[in-house]
Amino acid sequence: MKGVILAGGKATRLRPLTSITNKHLLPIYDKPLIFYPLEAMARAGVEEVVLITNPEYSGHFLNLIKTGREFGLQITYELQEEPGGLAQAVSLAEPFARGSKILVLLGDNIFTQDLRPAVEQFKAQERGATVFATEVDEPQHYGVIEVDGDRVLGIEEKPSEPKSNLAQTGIYLYDERVFSFMDQLKPSARGELEITDLNNIYVNEGSMRCHTLEGFWIDAGTSHDELLEANIRAAELRRKGIL
Ligand code: G1P
Repeated sequence: MKGVILAGGKATRLRPLTSITNKHLLPIYDKPLIFYPLEAMARAGVEEVVLITNPEYSGHFLNLIKTGREFGLQITYELQEEPGGLAQAVSLAEPFARGSKILVLLGDNIFTQDLRPAVEQFKAQERGATVFATEVDEPQHYGVIEVDGDRVLGIEEKPSEPKSNLAQTGIYLYDERVFSFMDQLKPSARGELEITDLNNIYVNEGSMRCHTLEGFWIDAGTSHDELLEANIRAAELRRKGIL
C-alpha cells in the first residue's frame, strides 16, 4: 500500500491568506494543515507517500516537510503543473505507485479516526475501492453518496437536490487498477477531472464500498469560516488529547 496526499490547487476562495502560500500550509491551531494528513498516513501504517502539489509554493513544502522522516514517512514530491482536478492529481502518482493499492487523502481534511483497520482490511481484499463518508447538515456542498448497506449505489458531485446527507470525505482507497481508469474520465463543466467521476467507475462495476467515519471530520479548506471552525475544533480536541 502506498500513500497519496493531494495538496495542490490555487485556493482562490481563501485569498488573501493564499496569496503568499499554499492553503495546506496555513495554521490549524498549532500546526500547518498539511501535518494532519501526514500524521494520519503514519497512523494508518502507510509509510511511502507521494505529496502532489502545484509548482508555485512547492519549495515551502520541501522546507517544512523535507524527507518526511520526522513523521516516520518517506516522502516523494510530484508537481501538478495545471489545475486539472483531483482525479488528474491522483493520476500523477502513477510512476510512484504503479502496481500498488493506494490510500488517497485530500490535504485539507482533518479527522480523528485511525484508518489502519480499514487499510489492513483493504489490503486483504482482491479488488475494488472504498470511500469514507460522514453525515453532514449541508450535503449539497460535497460529493453525496447513496448507499445500500456498505455498497455504494451512486455518488453525485455537489447536487442541488442531494439524495442523502452522507458526504464523501477526502479519504479513498483504490486498487491497483485505478491508474488504468483515468483515460475513461472526461473534463467536467468546470474543466477538471473529478474524483467523483473516478469513484463512479468503481460504483458502476459494483465494487465501491462506503465506510462511515467515526469521530471528528472537517474539510478545512473550503472557506474562511471552515478554516476558523477547523482551528477552534482542533484546539478543543487537542486539549482533550484526541487530536
Ligand atoms: C472535494 C470533492 C467532494 C468531497 C470534498 C471533501 O470537493 O470534489 O466530492 O466531498 O472534496 O473534502 P472540494 O472540497 O474540492 O470542493
